Amino acid sequence: MNVKQMVGEKAAEYVKDGMVVGLGTGSTAYYLVEALGKRVEKGLTITGVTTSTRTKEQAETLNIPLVDLNDVAKIDLTIDGSDEVSENYQGIKGGGGALLFEKLVANNSEKVIWIVDDSKMVKTLGTFPLPVEIVAFGYKQLFRLFESKNLHPELRLNESKKNYVTDGGHYIIDLHLESIENPHELATWLDGLTGVVEHGLFLDMVNTVIVGHENAVEVLDVR
Ligand code: A5P
Repeated sequence: MNVKQMVGEKAAEYVKDGMVVGLGTGSTAYYLVEALGKRVEKGLTITGVTTSTRTKEQAETLNIPLVDLNDVAKIDLTIDGSDEVSENYQGIKGGGGALLFEKLVANNSEKVIWIVDDSKMVKTLGTFPLPVEIVAFGYKQLFRLFESKNLHPELRLNESKKNYVTDGGHYIIDLHLESIENPHELATWLDGLTGVVEHGLFLDMVNTVIVGHENAVEVLDVR
């Protein structure tokens, strides 16, 4: 069993009968959704809230009952992957492009669990490029602003070398920062820019990080 599957299956154990569960996006969350699909087949009763078209399609194939984020009072637990987790448990997400819906779902969840392999655990965030989701209209203006601030922007492209479009219909600029010394300061600045829809800094959010090592799974209860 690969490490992503190990953490996905471990996280599925946290899901109890009757829960509303936020279903993350990415190659690790994939295994969580598969594991939940198996448990649903055996009689587990849950309702899922998905964070992307990809996850929605997967969950539908597995007959996991789904509901729109609009139609739940709250989500009991969201389980998602992460691209980086710092030593004080801040995260970068959005490598898979689903950051906006992921953050909306996470912000409306009582508990958040991230599932990662140990290569994602870092001292300081920033080696992984920080995704910033922006409106398409006039996007080059924000690109130039990021350039002028030496934030090393790169417009994300799809496989056909066209501008990548998120599920929300926006573009993504990845910032190649190498190291983010003050994530809160950067998040506040990005939050204040017109045209920025969301960014991949997921701060003070995660309750539990499940880390997969080659032969073991480690559970870190953070808050
Ligand atoms: C999707 O937008 C991302 O936030 C993913 O959750 C994150 O990139 C982790 O993905 P992997 O499990 O594929 O590395």
